[in-house]
Amino acid sequence: MLTAFVKSWPRLWATDRASKHRRYSCPHLAKPLSFAAALTGDLQKSMSLADVMRTPIVAGNWKMNGSIASVDALIQGLVSSEDLECELLVCPPTVFLSQVRDRLIAKKRGSVIVLGAQDVSQHEAGAHTGEVSADMLSECGCRYTLIGHSERRQFHAESDINVAAKVERSLTAGIRPIVCVGETLEERQNGYTLSVVERQLDAVGEMISAEDWGRFDVAYEPVWAIGNGESASPEQAQEVHEALRSALQKNGDQNGTTRILYGGSVNQDNADALFEMADIDGALVGGASLVAESFLSIAASAAVRSTRSRAG
Ligand code: 13P
Repeated sequence: MLTAFVKSWPRLWATDRASKHRRYSCPHLAKPLSFAAALTGDLQKSMSLADVMRTPIVAGNWKMNGSIASVDALIQGLVSSEDLECELLVCPPTVFLSQVRDRLIAKKRGSVIVLGAQDVSQHEAGAHTGEVSADMLSECGCRYTLIGHSERRQFHAESDINVAAKVERSLTAGIRPIVCVGETLEERQNGYTLSVVERQLDAVGEMISAEDWGRFDVAYEPVWAIGNGESASPEQAQEVHEALRSALQKNGDQNGTTRILYGGSVNQDNADALFEMADIDGALVGGASLVAESFLSIAASAAVRSTRSRAG
């Protein structure tokens, strides 16, 4: 049965842009193919390990927005989503984490829409007023945390060293970090884009151990593209993602399994073109993640990418 399924995978999952909202149903399996199964038979020949492991991810960074009532309304919109071949992550403000977790569990969607934090303390516990530890986030149900968002670096004086310490702390607590990197407009205009993002990544590499490569994801968020509706072009983003991919591989992510998300004015109109790019594995979405319909539309675009790479 498995062999028959694997052989017919491209046809079963084939879709196109016009039908991206269609439910991705498969008559053979109730759940998405497991990793082990995906590596079986003919499919193995046409897919690399990285293709299998780099499931697209669409993450919503709600930043400092929302209220108890608006969070409930947003979750209500999100839980009505179809199952898509992409990972959906929401990162609410810390005070709403438990509320979101409880709503997702109540709606039986906790395994489909996963929970993440926007930041984490670099300290383990103790006298750090206002900080939230990785263990606390884990207990609240967080599977991910953003680390080193440019707003933290710019407005809260977070250094590369702080970011690296937070990554190390999160990994210890079993939370998967999404490490944010990105250049300012001035740095881009002076030709420093690649050296800036590589420096930010190197700082993390210096603090983690060899086996931690592949245990975190990276988000490229050019500072100049955040919150203004002016996304980087797909080609601009791809250039940086490609450089990050080779830096990751050179450092220790031998199998190329680290996902690289793009963030900065992603919306339902530009998501398709961004996901066309070979090294854009997901999106980190700010403003558009606050509206269920636009967030889900971006996720549907990511699912098309997933389907395309499976179809080889
Ligand atoms: P916008 O999507 O609002 O530009 O925000 C991007 C961002 O900072 C996500 O972390």
